[in-house]
Amino acid sequence: MHMRKWSRLMLVVGLGVFVGCAWQGPFATYVDSTKDCAEMLVQRDIQKVATVRELRFLGKVPETTARCLGGTHAERLREGPWLDWPNYWASGDITSRAPARLLADAKVIGPNAHGINGALYELEVQRIELITFNLFDNNKTYEAYVTGRDGEAGPVLKTWPELRLPQSHPDYKAVGGDQPQVCRGELIRFRSLSGMCNDIRNPLMGSTHQLFARNVPFDSTFPDLGLNELTRNRHGDRLGLLKPDPQVISRKLFTRTQSQPGTCHEGYGLPGGVQAAECAYEKAPFLNVLAAFWIQFMTHDWFAHLEEGHNRPEWMPVGCATQLVKNLEQPLTGEEVKQLGCRPDDRIDAATIAESTKPRSFTQGGKTYLTRAPKTTANHVTAWWDASQLYGYDERSGRRVKHDPSDSAKLLLMSVEAGDKPGYLPVFESSDPINPEWSGQEATAFPDNWSIGLSFFHNVFAREHNAFVEAFRTQTALAPDADSGLRNPVEPDRVIRYGDVTSTELFEVARLVVAAEIAKIHTIEWTTQLLYNEPMNRGMHANWHGIFEKHELVADALQEVVRRLGDSEDAKKANSLYAALAAGPGIFGLGNRVYEGVPLVGLIDPNKEDRWDLKNDDHINGGVNHFGSPFNFPEEFITVYRLHPLLPDLIDYREWNREPNVIRQKVPVIETFREKATGAMREKGLANWALSMGRQRLGALTLQNHPQFMQNLKMNRLQSPTQQIDVAALDLIRDRERGVPRYNEFRRQYGLTQLTSFDDFVDQRENDSKKRSEQLQLVKTLRDTYGQHRCDASKIITDARLNDDGSPINDCLGHPNGSLIDNIEDVDTVVGWLAEFRRPHGFAISETQFVVFILNASRRLFSDRFFTSSFRPEFYTTLGVDWVMHNGPGPELIEQGPINGHKQPVSPMKRVLLRTMPELAGELQGVVNAFDPWARDRGEYYSLGWKARAGAKEDESFANKKE
Ligand code: HEM
Repeated sequence: MHMRKWSRLMLVVGLGVFVGCAWQGPFATYVDSTKDCAEMLVQRDIQKVATVRELRFLGKVPETTARCLGGTHAERLREGPWLDWPNYWASGDITSRAPARLLADAKVIGPNAHGINGALYELEVQRIELITFNLFDNNKTYEAYVTGRDGEAGPVLKTWPELRLPQSHPDYKAVGGDQPQVCRGELIRFRSLSGMCNDIRNPLMGSTHQLFARNVPFDSTFPDLGLNELTRNRHGDRLGLLKPDPQVISRKLFTRTQSQPGTCHEGYGLPGGVQAAECAYEKAPFLNVLAAFWIQFMTHDWFAHLEEGHNRPEWMPVGCATQLVKNLEQPLTGEEVKQLGCRPDDRIDAATIAESTKPRSFTQGGKTYLTRAPKTTANHVTAWWDASQLYGYDERSGRRVKHDPSDSAKLLLMSVEAGDKPGYLPVFESSDPINPEWSGQEATAFPDNWSIGLSFFHNVFAREHNAFVEAFRTQTALAPDADSGLRNPVEPDRVIRYGDVTSTELFEVARLVVAAEIAKIHTIEWTTQLLYNEPMNRGMHANWHGIFEKHELVADALQEVVRRLGDSEDAKKANSLYAALAAGPGIFGLGNRVYEGVPLVGLIDPNKEDRWDLKNDDHINGGVNHFGSPFNFPEEFITVYRLHPLLPDLIDYREWNREPNVIRQKVPVIETFREKATGAMREKGLANWALSMGRQRLGALTLQNHPQFMQNLKMNRLQSPTQQIDVAALDLIRDRERGVPRYNEFRRQYGLTQLTSFDDFVDQRENDSKKRSEQLQLVKTLRDTYGQHRCDASKIITDARLNDDGSPINDCLGHPNGSLIDNIEDVDTVVGWLAEFRRPHGFAISETQFVVFILNASRRLFSDRFFTSSFRPEFYTTLGVDWVMHNGPGPELIEQGPINGHKQPVSPMKRVLLRTMPELAGELQGVVNAFDPWARDRGEYYSLGWKARAGAKEDESFANKKE
């Protein structure tokens, strides 16, 4: 099909009919912003995908577009660096919906539909531009990405010699040796321990020890090394590993203020977990503590810089030495150290670096590029969403996982005193391959930084694994001769009946199912609550099911379109369209049906035949798309997942069968650190912890809201006089060690608007005078901490963007030459995103974090064969596919009543909780999202109110406190 036709198809089907503005002509008198919509169309103000990165979309639209999509409200809020779509009709709570006049709610043509579809369109433009401009692989494939190979453009390359198995690898011969390598047979059946052979033509992609990628050009990394003129101009001599001092930043900008510090006791609470303990923290009303630990549980699956819980054995100081006084660095006096509460004697082991030799460079089109970043680091777990934190990512971690000797398809669960029948994970034995600090903990593959939250999710998903195995065994007993759907690629034609499935096979099938369930929970349940508004709800469902979930025929047709586009030659356009069109059928399951040879229109034929074939490598692997850059997480991804403020210091402990509204204890999280978690879990039981963490709100991701226990964490392994570390300060140090660009350049590189002073952080919408003055006070603290300098307009500081008038951006950021300006360029990225007071409605994270997420959250689905073309009964079994699709056994269950206007299946995490803790059925009755505080009344359309639901009015956490 001609490219122009593709584009139109993309606009109409993929992106939710943004051009609906044009269609409202006949109803104009009923819609406030019609005139602006017409003007927008006449002036062709619809944002297009940029062809050069300097001109990319910044999430800012012209006035007419803003008025068309969000009325005068959206127009008024355009000022400042923040995204415009959150101000569109229906993108916030009930007050954001257009006045309820005739057609306000009309599908497609009403203003509410315009607002939501406009937001989705802009998000898609951002995603396409991110895929186009922000992929930089460190595994030495970048040169081919820029120059192409054998006449093929870089962005459509699909295989890379750098990802072949080396000669020394035991499977070298099996994949083809020095011939083109392709994994086949036993190697492709299940998720392998090391993560190899997920992409059958790139055996090493995403496997353990591959290097982290980058989302920013290599020469913009490591700003404090001053490797080029731009970074030197941007930061002068103001940066260093401990400059500005990380512990000082932590104490001034991260500490939770306590009105009664004695009862918080640096986050360690009071002995015996007594209720009098109090550690104040700023809470997010629409997310619970389960959501906080969920994301730690996820990160342990995705990435780890540490190997077996350790860094490089070289102990280094971590600050608490200097501070800026009137823009000059001064040593801290003893009195100042005391006042700040920091510790000059803390030490930490330095970050492990994979390569630090000077990278080679190459030229293309007159421009010089580095082949990799000046230093690289390795991901010590698999990058795949493969539940490796539960099942293992190398031989050693695999040995930590215990099978049930009575049924080796199951994980070992032991009954303990707390009694509940499915039991608990066993404790490590002395013969297990672990570090001394992990002894006494539950046995699992990734044991580091263990606490009650990780113990919770590891036990829940071990139970879920076993629930699937049991259901499979039941099915086998009923129909041992029936076809299980499973096949062995070694003998693809042999039907494997239920009764033939071995325990080893069933264990691996259960792993596939659990990993897919986790990815689904994360995508459509956790994320839709973290980003609680309608555009995000639709966007996340589009990523997973596709926007045509209920229209299978259309979805099939689009799937074929997308698959063919993946083969298209016109590299950048093909990638753009591929990403956009995938919203039609959804990324999950992309390519898992094949209707080859059938013309496009014929796809609508209900009798068409699915020709997906296990003997065809292109079918097994055909759904993946890496967009020319092998998949791994970028270093910048880790930065935006440094979410330590989510944690409270104390957990409000409750009991499910004894007045759940009553808080019985305040258990310090630190009192559940490492082996103490295992004791606490077994003593109090899974269901009580579920209830406690399900009802409690988590900490808002904002300044001065880090847990105190994290700033004062005691760890035996530290070789220092204090044996303590400030993890909040360490978050900054690690990013500096790994060369993450500082906040303002980070934003420019990701296609966001730069800030020109600390004042830009202030949320102009804030009417509450107390909150407004708190923001102003924090801006002042930022200025004191990072300082100011006299700017020099002759110094160009970036090549990521141009000023609006086309001139280069210089050190003065638009201020007069020689004026005193804020050192906004020096702000550590974590500090910057925590300082974003202005957020889209229902966003627990900031815009800066979100943009990193848009790119990488879709890539980890796009790149994984088991979530796309190999999501098939041949790998998962028929029962496994159904389990993932329907959130458990049996037909899909539907939640009562519409949820924010949608008919919704009972959510996947709620189903897991009900299966693994049936005693919580009563408590969970009113819960529609397991990550929304369980006793909260969700109110109307995306309300963030903190009000008790029926039956929980007595819950103490709703009592009188002004929040
Ligand atoms: C009791 C709870 C927790 C403890 C004790 C803990 C402790 C730590 C420590 C000590 C480090 C630094 C490791 C190093 O660089 O040497 C770290 C890193 C990190 N933490 Fe946490 N943490 C906890 C919870 C969380 C949560 C809830 C999140 C949420 C996502 C999180 C995300 C991270 C990330 C992304 C890193 C960087 C990991 C890497 O470099 O690969 N942590 N944590």
